[in-house]
Amino acid sequence: MTGPWPLTADRDADGALTIGGVSVRELAREHGTPLWVVDEADLRTRCRRYVEGFPGVEVTYASKAWCTTGVLQLVDEEGLLIDVASGGELFTALNAGVPADRLILHGNNKSEDELERALDAGVGRIVVDSFDELERLERLAAAREVVAPVWLRITPGIDAHTHEYVRTGHDDSKFGFTLSLGLADQAFARALELDHVDVVGVHAHIGSQIFGTDPFIANVEVALDLLARWRDEHDVTLAELNLGGGMGIRYTHEDHPVEVHRYGKAVLESVDERCEALDLPRPRLIVEPGRAIVGPSTITLYEVGTIKELPGLSTWVSVDGGMSDNIRPALYDAEHDVLLANRVSDAEPRAVTVVGKHCESGDLVRDHAPLPRDLALGDLLAVAATGAYTASMASNYNQLPRPAAVRVRDGQVQPLVHRETEEDLIRRDVPLR
Ligand code: LLP
Repeated sequence: MTGPWPLTADRDADGALTIGGVSVRELAREHGTPLWVVDEADLRTRCRRYVEGFPGVEVTYASKAWCTTGVLQLVDEEGLLIDVASGGELFTALNAGVPADRLILHGNNKSEDELERALDAGVGRIVVDSFDELERLERLAAAREVVAPVWLRITPGIDAHTHEYVRTGHDDSKFGFTLSLGLADQAFARALELDHVDVVGVHAHIGSQIFGTDPFIANVEVALDLLARWRDEHDVTLAELNLGGGMGIRYTHEDHPVEVHRYGKAVLESVDERCEALDLPRPRLIVEPGRAIVGPSTITLYEVGTIKELPGLSTWVSVDGGMSDNIRPALYDAEHDVLLANRVSDAEPRAVTVVGKHCESGDLVRDHAPLPRDLALGDLLAVAATGAYTASMASNYNQLPRPAAVRVRDGQVQPLVHRETEEDLIRRDVPLR
């Protein structure tokens, strides 16, 4: 199928959408809706394409995109490193059996407990984000008589979202050491004085859902220039450079993101060119995609519950989930393609507003969704590219239990996450009587 659908998406003889050779009708019947359906072949293929597209580069999965045990194990099996950005993500990854030295710890406000656990587990790299953290980490590592291998997170001053970049300007971010204000220089100078923090490289992430290659190339240049300058000023050549994540994906048929091989080629060529110009050895490179690994692999299946026609106004189609399982439309005006999934229809399409079942008007699934006029109660809708930042940002708003997730492959279905029950919803409550 064309568009933003998982690689194995197809239609069976009855016209039902199939993923991994399994009909969505069967999935809805056996596992209920809303349901996240992960196309395992798609997910594994995207891991492999990344590894192939970035030869010699360590590809790291940014687990914030979807940090659930089965996904982490799958990505680990494909040989990716994993970045975690909280104690909870660290716990989930370690508990999933990911070796600690294959983990990278992020976060702009890591607690002492999180840092201690990372040091005790022996995570591969800690990304230091602030002066406070530099001192905290020195103290904690000294108490353990270990040396923490770290990257300094720099804020490179690149405006990724507009595809334009500025190299100076006021880089007013909560993340990292702002380069233009000299903070990265101060942090490096301070780190060189510390005995238990070993700066092995630099980390520079410029943003997310980026479509062109220019901002990534600008990031490469800024980061390598910095490594060359520090070499000249301190006689220390840092060996590692993490270029972050952020590659855009297709959410609708109108999106045309850069293909991963092209992105890899552009980044690696710019690294080689810049290194040559600066007479710098090519550092060990790391990239950190989240969305591009897991996003396109997954659809959300919903059932249509009500259809309201307002003549001259809109047609409102309500499904059985919404902003609690996908906050992206409400939070980022994100658009995900929607299609009729349980059957095909010859009826003329018309633009409808697909909404969830939550008690607020911002509970949008998709505006102007072209769905056939004969759309009926009980039909199934599939929403595209919901693997990243939907389950991981899900809530229990209106006390809706969070959906189940399954992975499908070669006609087989395996659960990934059980559906929450209403009992689960009150498990942490402390009753008054
Ligand atoms: N590395 C760092 C340091 C990050 O902060 C992020 C994403 C990534 C890597 C992965 O970026 P990706 O390849 O997934 O674009 N909730 C938003 C996205 C927030 C991204 C946060 N950081 C959304 O739903 O669009």
